[in-house]
Amino acid sequence: MPRIKKCVIPAAGMGKRLYPLTRGQPKEMLPIMSKPVIHYVVSEAINSGIDEILIIVGAGKEAIINYFDRHKMDEELDINGEYDFPDIYFVRQKEQKGLADAISYARNFTGDEDFLVLLGDTIYQSFDSSTVTSHLLETYYRIAKPLIALEEIPYDDVINYGVVGGEETEPGILKINKFIEKPTKADAPSNLGITGIYILKSEIYDFIKVTEPGRNGEIQLTDSLNMMLTTQEIYGQRINGKRYDIGSLDLWVRTFMAFAKEKGY
Ligand code: G1P
Repeated sequence: MPRIKKCVIPAAGMGKRLYPLTRGQPKEMLPIMSKPVIHYVVSEAINSGIDEILIIVGAGKEAIINYFDRHKMDEELDINGEYDFPDIYFVRQKEQKGLADAISYARNFTGDEDFLVLLGDTIYQSFDSSTVTSHLLETYYRIAKPLIALEEIPYDDVINYGVVGGEETEPGILKINKFIEKPTKADAPSNLGITGIYILKSEIYDFIKVTEPGRNGEIQLTDSLNMMLTTQEIYGQRINGKRYDIGSLDLWVRTFMAFAKEKGY
């Protein structure tokens, strides 16, 4: 099983739920203590053994590119010692058409290799010394199937997430039989939400190509994954850690406060 070397970080969303805060700056550049959110995402990738990173940006996201130019990143990225600093590339999504469309821009970067996707607005704190992403990679190396990170969420929140249905094949691991983006409580096949770590195979690009706009008029990765289920098995794994999404004001404030509290503020 070849090692996963490449990570794609979509950071092209407009951050509308955070307006006016993100009208002039990317949500991925909002601070969590002394570092912007994207810094934590890149650290997660590096500390999970990734060699090359592609960040998908869009209009108004230049600050992300500048950030990675200007810093002595090796020192600041909390690299756990054994990893080299990766190459970071950028590509610009032409139009804001949704997560799957953004990921389709990574096709040349990933080629035929299996690859990791980490969302640019979501950060993790592992319950042990290895990263949340590393736990997923370990499972992927064992089962050799696409794998999606999951987390139990309150049924009242399923409307904000991609949600899956499936059967547990071993503790914490699910063979997925359905993906649905932001369902109503009544339509949700479970309360297992997609947290934003995906280990994907290059076949996903063919499904993205034929995915129609779905929830909110956007080309949703969840819909592409649902189509891919017709040709291959996809698994989900509950994360072994805490997930922080900064996509809305209350979530960002909560994340900031949790990190501040940890530092003794
Ligand atoms: C995206 C995905 C969704 C996932 C979520 C996690 O939604 O489409 O499936 O559950 O990220 O944060 P967004 O938050 O961009 O609306």
